[in-house]
Amino acid sequence: MSERVLSPRVQPTDADLEVSLRPRRLDEFIGQDRLRANLRVYIEAARARREPLEHLILYGPPGLGKTTLAGIIANELGVNLRITSGPAIERAGDLAAILTSLEPGDVLFIDEIHRLNRAVEEVLYPAMEDFAIDIVLGKGPGARSIRLQLNRFTLIGATTRYALLSAPLRDRFGVVCRLDFYDLPAMVEIVRRSARILGVEIDDAGAEEIARRSRGTPRVANRLLKRVRDFAQVMADGRITLETARFALERLEVDEVGLDEVDRRVLRAVIEKFGGGPVGLETIAAAISEDPDTIADVYEPYLLQLGFLDRTRLGRVATARAYQHLGIPHPAQQPVQPRLWEATDEPPPG
Ligand SMILES: Nc1ncnc2c1ncn2[C@@H]1O[C@H](COP(=O)(O)OP(=O)(O)OP(=O)(O)O)[C@@H](O)[C@H]1O
Ligand SMILES: [Mg+2]
Repeated sequence: MSERVLSPRVQPTDADLEVSLRPRRLDEFIGQDRLRANLRVYIEAARARREPLEHLILYGPPGLGKTTLAGIIANELGVNLRITSGPAIERAGDLAAILTSLEPGDVLFIDEIHRLNRAVEEVLYPAMEDFAIDIVLGKGPGARSIRLQLNRFTLIGATTRYALLSAPLRDRFGVVCRLDFYDLPAMVEIVRRSARILGVEIDDAGAEEIARRSRGTPRVANRLLKRVRDFAQVMADGRITLETARFALERLEVDEVGLDEVDRRVLRAVIEKFGGGPVGLETIAAAISEDPDTIADVYEPYLLQLGFLDRTRLGRVATARAYQHLGIPHPAQQPVQPRLWEATDEPPPG
């Protein structure tokens, strides 16, 4: 007999759980208080005026809730959500097809919008500004263009790299929202909420331990929660406590501040191979054989947030805090013989 017959209820996969853990309403969205309060105003105002919401850009490191917010906004407005992404739209015609199929007030979500190509981006300008697209008929000197009116819609763009957006595109968004790393109380609440949905028992200390090591990122919190749950189930009675959380997180090689193996390799490379920096991001990435974009998107923002890395004009510098965290003596803290003029407080000679 196959396993399927024995257990007709298919076990939900991580991907399914991801969907069910995703907040659907603004009330369920935890943290980012100021952003959430502002969005509530924009949504209510647009609804009262029976107008589409202004185009909006969401930016910030991965896993902080950009896609989630796009879904919530469409949901709260009671309109359809169309999801696509910068790299998925190859030709101008692909985007035109999407735009002409939108119903009045719909939300079009373009993820990784900084990766749209030029030709596609140019279709977006009049669409955002005048709700129209220009279609060119024919080629060469005889070519002419006709303007096609679109239904009014809301574009929500998401990006991890706001700086890579072209200026004309940036200018066409009415609302710019930056998502920050979540603070500890918000992270604890997110862990508790997800545990409730997953039906896992978790105590206060266990929730806080997972929250503390989730690098201020809800997606990481959900992932760690699921893995800790596995350990709690197999090694203990299924309940997540401080002890089971610590044990599991240690096994997952996530340290007390949420750094994983790659973070530590980044820091160690800066310190041991480049004398603490300054060193360029590409050079660091090459030294540890990682993709520079991944380092820039995923690792660097959190290391900056923790104050382990500094970004200077000449490159990245490891801070004293980073040395301390890795247990490496900081060069500046080595006892140095004071020079005479320093000792006497006199201006340096010459
Ligand atoms: N404020 C929040 N409250 C509760 N859960 C959240 C919140 N924000 C995000 N999550 C959870 O974190 C997961 C990741 O969020 P989401 O996919 O929206 O991130 P993202 O910013 O779009 O990431 P990426 O840049 O990788 O696309 C979601 O599935 C959701 O379960
Ligand atoms: Mg996303």
